[in-house]
Amino acid sequence: MDIRGFRSNDAEILSSMIRKCLVTINNKDYSKKVISKMCNKFSPQNITQLSKTRRIYVAVEKLKLIGTASLKKNRILSVFVDPDLHKQGIGRKLVKHLEITAIKEGYNKIEIPSNTTALKFYEKLGYKKIKKIVSAYGIEYKMIKHI
Ligand SMILES: CC(C)(COP(=O)(O)OP(=O)(O)OC[C@H]1O[C@@H](n2cnc3c(N)ncnc32)[C@H](O)[C@@H]1OP(=O)(O)O)[C@@H](O)C(=O)NCCC(=O)NCCS
Repeated sequence: MDIRGFRSNDAEILSSMIRKCLVTINNKDYSKKVISKMCNKFSPQNITQLSKTRRIYVAVEKLKLIGTASLKKNRILSVFVDPDLHKQGIGRKLVKHLEITAIKEGYNKIEIPSNTTALKFYEKLGYKKIKKIVSAYGIEYKMIKHI
């Protein structure tokens, strides 16, 4: 598996992969309204816009896009793995890659806004829940880890 920076021609396939997560996995924890808002947030056009304000990374295996995570200063955002490939260590590798990047850039603490679905995943990776946040996207948790 390789992890590389987002390219503009990834937008369509990245959007489909994220939307597949939202409608098959996150829908268990969030209302239809929130899932629909999230699907809109991750349209191909909006992903291209987001790539101008955060560094989007993609995980690729045999030319297939299988995961993503973003870095904005010391914040890790939008970690999604193809639902057909969950629990195979892809999410862990993506987060590790971004942690190492942040360390090289001089940060010693990472913040992650976690949704309800991913809480246990981040706890496994050593993140601690420090605050519950209620936003237009439902319940989120501010999580931190000293690196
Ligand atoms: C959260 C997500 C990115 C995890 O990716 P993944 O590739 O399946 O995770 P990994 O296989 O690297 O898991 C790492 C560890 O966390 C554990 N884990 C992963 N998902 C878990 C879950 N839902 N509940 C409990 N533990 C979980 C794994 O068992 C593994 O533990 P181990 O090292 O003891 O075996 C993936 O489930 C996903 O895309 N979810 C939907 C999108 C989402 O909600 N993203 C978060 C946005 S904030």
